[in-house]
Amino acid sequence: MQRRLIFILFFLSVFFEIAFCQNNSLGISQDEYAGRGQNLLSSLDSGSVVVMRSGDFKMRSNDVEYRYRQESNFLYLTGWRSPNRYIILSSHSFVVDEKNVNSILFTSSKEESTNTQVMPNEILMNINRFQEIFKSVLKDAKTLYISAPDLPFVNDWLNDKKIFLDKNAKKELEQKYPGLKVKNALPLFGKFREIKSEAELRLMRKSIELTWNGLKRAMINCQPGRWEYELQADIEYEMMRGGADFPSWTPIVGSGENSLILHYDDNRRQTKEGDLVVLDVGAEYDGYACDITRTIPVSGKFTKAQTEVYDVVLRAQEEVIKIVKPGITMKDMDAKAKEIITQAGYGKYIRHGVTHPVGIDVHDIWASDTIRAGMVMTVEPGIYIPADADSIALDFRGFGIRIEDDVLVTASGCEVMTKNVQKEIAEIEALMK
Ligand code: GLY
Ligand code: MN
Ligand code: MN
Repeated sequence: MQRRLIFILFFLSVFFEIAFCQNNSLGISQDEYAGRGQNLLSSLDSGSVVVMRSGDFKMRSNDVEYRYRQESNFLYLTGWRSPNRYIILSSHSFVVDEKNVNSILFTSSKEESTNTQVMPNEILMNINRFQEIFKSVLKDAKTLYISAPDLPFVNDWLNDKKIFLDKNAKKELEQKYPGLKVKNALPLFGKFREIKSEAELRLMRKSIELTWNGLKRAMINCQPGRWEYELQADIEYEMMRGGADFPSWTPIVGSGENSLILHYDDNRRQTKEGDLVVLDVGAEYDGYACDITRTIPVSGKFTKAQTEVYDVVLRAQEEVIKIVKPGITMKDMDAKAKEIITQAGYGKYIRHGVTHPVGIDVHDIWASDTIRAGMVMTVEPGIYIPADADSIALDFRGFGIRIEDDVLVTASGCEVMTKNVQKEIAEIEALMK
């Protein structure tokens, strides 16, 4: 009897798997990568060439490596995780070794054979041929788009000057190839990266789930005397245990006056009774981030003053979330948050904008300020009242409160993707009891 039951259950589970779970695997499929390459290619004006560079290896002592994180456009286009690679992608096909190609991936890796194809008409080549081919492709190009890890400048501190390598390199190329315009590829990628596919959303939901687990663990374990780094460890424990690549950035665990420091990540202070702690965290899962902030009372209960300020931040967040829909701008969102916080009398304690897109990068790129369906944005108002704010009662000073959720813009409004993460005062206090 029992065996028959197990048998039936097994068949039922297989049936459900086939009927409902197909196409539900996490991760970006090869087809989706191919579509990204095709989209990028079709968006190019004729005579355009895109050149891309991944990062280089980063070393600590001698040749000990730490885990490499791919450059974001490179990751978006190819899914390749390794450093030391280049790509040339061209609107027009060109001939290399008697083959007609639109795209070449350059690698120094011997293991990488031609078993993956991401972009249309693509071949794989050793990196030592990059210069030769780059030069020949540029001869017929009108526009060159460059995508590479950010390199604003190198500080030549010995001679007291800043060397803008990128700027000089672009100028030199334009001189070498008269008629060539060299541009940044970011707007090109922004247009595609700002709209999230179903697969991307699945990865972001997973990132949210792991981040939520971390926040819950930190809230449950929090009590006066706990060190900020212990709360950080609670958060990272759940992220890594759930299979995250790493935290998307060093978790911000700012207690007491550290809650006033926007990108605080020393996490070295011991918490004490009466503190608030700003926990601003996100797991990177298979290349995708989320960005969540919760502000919690160390002792498990908000004071009267903290409650009053918290309610204003929460109301500002709710009001911003209400207006999010395609067609509004990020400025509209900022203005709404400012309006609510200013009306409540805390206008001068606003320190940052209320939104940014999230995706492969926690501060993801976008093409224009106007919001479109399929974008994922943060809504993160905050009020920061310094200890020396003498125009305000003493128990209202010396803390910052930020509440940050991630919303997916839909056709008519938005969905709060992080809605399960405890946010109401009563929910936070219940969890921390
Ligand atoms: N975690 C950085 C931010 O909220 O923008
Ligand atoms: Mn954040
Ligand atoms: Mn943010």
